[in-house]
Amino acid sequence: MPTEPTVSGPTRSLPAGRAAADVLDELRALRQADAPTRGGRTFAYVYDAGLDGLDELAAAAYTAYATVNGLDPTVFPSVARLENDLVGAVAGLLGAPGAQGTFTSGGTESIMLAVKAARDQARAVRGITAPQLVLPSTAHAAFHKAAHYLGLEVVVVPVDPVGFRADADAMAAALTDRTALVVASAPSYAHGVIDPVAEIAGAAARRGVLCHVDACIGGWLLPHLRRAGREVPPFDLSVPGVTSLSVDLHKYGYADKGASVVLYRDAELRRHQYFAHAAWPGYPVVNPTVQGTKSGGLLAQAWAVLQHVGEDGYTALAGRVAEASDRLLAGLREIDGVRVLGEPAAGLVAFTVLDGPAGGAPDLSLLLHLADEMRARGWYLQPQLSFDGLPPNLHLTLTPATVGQVASLVEDLGDALVSARALPPVTVDPGLAELAAGLDPETLGPDEVAAVLAFAGLAGDAGLPDRMAPVLVLLDALPGPLKERLLTEFVGSVFHV
Ligand SMILES: Cc1ncc(COP(=O)(O)O)c(C=O)c1O
Repeated sequence: MPTEPTVSGPTRSLPAGRAAADVLDELRALRQADAPTRGGRTFAYVYDAGLDGLDELAAAAYTAYATVNGLDPTVFPSVARLENDLVGAVAGLLGAPGAQGTFTSGGTESIMLAVKAARDQARAVRGITAPQLVLPSTAHAAFHKAAHYLGLEVVVVPVDPVGFRADADAMAAALTDRTALVVASAPSYAHGVIDPVAEIAGAAARRGVLCHVDACIGGWLLPHLRRAGREVPPFDLSVPGVTSLSVDLHKYGYADKGASVVLYRDAELRRHQYFAHAAWPGYPVVNPTVQGTKSGGLLAQAWAVLQHVGEDGYTALAGRVAEASDRLLAGLREIDGVRVLGEPAAGLVAFTVLDGPAGGAPDLSLLLHLADEMRARGWYLQPQLSFDGLPPNLHLTLTPATVGQVASLVEDLGDALVSARALPPVTVDPGLAELAAGLDPETLGPDEVAAVLAFAGLAGDAGLPDRMAPVLVLLDALPGPLKERLLTEFVGSVFHV
């Protein structure tokens, strides 16, 4: 009988050293508790091209460059060659003549750098010392993070509550003499809808304000969808007024995680992204990105995947995503009480469930029961909570590997919804609501945090509960700052060493 590999508990002691095979066995064993990353049943976080040999190619390319330090292209010139190839391909697809860019570790880093470049350009060119960042309410949280790190004031503009797209007039009205950057998404993560990029960028240009298009998730899919015959509105640097754009190759480029590109309309704007420092006794530093030392492996694997899949390959993959999306939308619209949100551009779908099979209001408890029921059936659909009048929903990121799964997904969804409707609604415990209402996130002590987390079923080392509905219903009911504080504490408790 094969022996079960042992999974050791976390420890504060230094390992004594052991056989490589043993170490790898433990890594494989640890993975068993994770959601599957291949096979098309996990609808967030993972991108499965469903292409034989692609994972092996990425791994081999990573290995070939794992020890190369991307910090210094004068010592490792092949890094510059790979990055120029890669950014050149991105600029060819999404840029304009003269566009220049940088390979980064992901969407968040690309966004961080675009916001830094805009902040520094606004200071240098327009003399802005208290910069603002104007965002539609659906802009990715990474922009709030960038503003937090970089000291910009965020101005949030509500989106159209029916179509979930940014309101171009309201965005234009929010621009001020202090606006360093305005943002549009193509598409937004939450609802998968494309903002009116041309209108937003046009208004920005008229005021001399920079405009970033967050195409992290859509930037590689949309042009290939267009090539596959779908209608896609212009959204890239060819649109007048768009001055920068982010696109993640670790999403619909199907590279392994740690691969994105930020593109600028010209070298003069990109210059503001760089950091250089020569006033210390060590080597002269020029860092285009946040990291200093970085493995050449991530760049090499992204380059290899791009070279291998190629233009026709990406077009075929985009066609499969669109096919999955068409089939899923048709299936969802057949299920009583399910409402698809907005007009998804393909790739991402968000839907809510209504409190009656024939219609009604979005029902958070039912929605979260449905997510739990689906998880019990082996599917991961991502719950998104209500925000500023926008309904709670379940988000699905579709990939080529989804196509073969759509029929069983829709069947299980119908079945799971019947089960969810039969469950008692989840409500927030009045004792907990009372406890939470009296808490000030600014002054919350460790004991109070522990009490709320325990009440919510998230105590200590117990791990996550099987059913997340009770936890998420509570979270949905809490005011934003308290929610953020508790999430911080909760994640801190997960990384408890
Ligand atoms: C539209 C959009 N922007 C930014 C990001 C952040 O990207 P990352 O998670 O790679 O940092 C995402 C991730 O899903 C996204 O969908």
